Amino acid sequence: MSDTNVTVTVGEETKDYAVLSGTVGPQVIDIRKLYANTGMFTYDPGFTSTASCDSGLTYIDGDEGVLLHRGYPIGQLAEQSSFMEVSYLLLNGELPSKAQLDDFTYTITRHTMVNEQLTAFYRGFRRDAHPMAIMCGVVGALSSFYHDSTDINDPDQRRIASHRLIAKMPTIAAMAFKYSVGQPFLYPRNDLSYTANFLRMTFGVPAEEYVPDPVIVDAMDKIFILHADHEQNASTSTVRLAGSSGANPFACIAAGIACLWGPAHGGANEAALNMLREIGTVDRIPEYIARAKNKDDPFRLMGFGHRVYKNYDPRATVMQKTAEDVLKTMGVTDPVFDVARELERIALSDPYFIEKKLFPNVDFYSGVILSAIGFPTEMFTVLFALARTVGWVAQWNEMISDPAQKIGRPRQLYTGPSQRDYVPLTQR
Ligand code: SDX
Repeated sequence: MSDTNVTVTVGEETKDYAVLSGTVGPQVIDIRKLYANTGMFTYDPGFTSTASCDSGLTYIDGDEGVLLHRGYPIGQLAEQSSFMEVSYLLLNGELPSKAQLDDFTYTITRHTMVNEQLTAFYRGFRRDAHPMAIMCGVVGALSSFYHDSTDINDPDQRRIASHRLIAKMPTIAAMAFKYSVGQPFLYPRNDLSYTANFLRMTFGVPAEEYVPDPVIVDAMDKIFILHADHEQNASTSTVRLAGSSGANPFACIAAGIACLWGPAHGGANEAALNMLREIGTVDRIPEYIARAKNKDDPFRLMGFGHRVYKNYDPRATVMQKTAEDVLKTMGVTDPVFDVARELERIALSDPYFIEKKLFPNVDFYSGVILSAIGFPTEMFTVLFALARTVGWVAQWNEMISDPAQKIGRPRQLYTGPSQRDYVPLTQR
């Protein structure tokens, strides 16, 4: 992968460092020997210029607004594929045959039940606990039920743990919602698709049959596809770092859920809808645009901006169209959607947003759809975590099966006090 070098001179020492090329996208400078050669670290808080690994899962071109999963454009996958098929693709690298997809779906379907003991964990939470707090706790607790699939060096155990995590997230997420509304948990059904099963466990009640609306199932499945994986984002990097120590996969995914919760990351979908509701009407948009541009005001337009996309987030394009379709099909007119579209129009013509290349991201429109389907805003990031589990699991597998994998251990620029002697209390 190396065809050129860069030269670094420190004092009298000059060393060459290989430039490595991937299939497509920016090359990297292999600096693994830099500290040994120079006694210096690189300095890159927030990792704005750092590749932490090599990966074949997802490619993003932020300038062109391109997102590929194993080479396939997100727009084509969202329109033509299914979340189960995209999950297979991320895990195995190729689109499945019908037999392979049926076999994968059969396996996932038959891992959707959770140990009955797990239901006891929910009763330890207040009914008004944020469902992401429940997800962090319950998913972390999964490792106490599956000691037969925590040996990360056994490929068979890695595969079973991966299937368990993908399969059980909808059940655990639906249970978190049911607990918050005081309704009984519903068991998964093997005669329903992955997404229809989730919708029934969430919105169904024991008192009557629940038949998921195919339009809603399709929209939800599309939303899951759009959230499945996204290169080395903060929560995926968290999962990889946790996994690099040899932690079991359930603990690693719980770490990813905790990181995703932040409003700068997956928590932005909940924050974006709350922001749109706070704005309320189109005439109040200029006030919030001004706040977003004010350096002295910590307010940011939630659902806008991205570390990598300096063009339109291709997921936001699909999400906006899905929002229009769902609202039209459901005969729902949501003033928040009108505020969202007007806010986008105004922001994208404002020099501040143009200069800083701030566009709507995946979180800007998702809340409009999820709210129309009936999810409370607190559940939005839970849904993001549900879908992103397959990406986290695929990235974790890719890392663990890499023979060159080592424990992640960044260094620092130390800015604390130089060495000094202890002063006894009586002399202070
Ligand atoms: C996700 O990484 C991923 O791939 C994440 C994700 C995934 O699928 O995993 O795509 C999911 O997390 C999407 C992002 C969701 N977050 C939000 O919508 C929250 C609002 N957005 C911002 O907090 C921000 O845009 C980030 C966190 C998304 C990106 O932050 P960066 O890359 O660190 O950018 P920055 O903070 O350095 O901003 C650059 C400039 C700054 O101004 P200056 O200091 O240069 O003067 O743009 C400004 C920022 O103040 N800016 C915004 C803004 N986002 C950035 N100003 C107003 N509103 C915003 N939303």
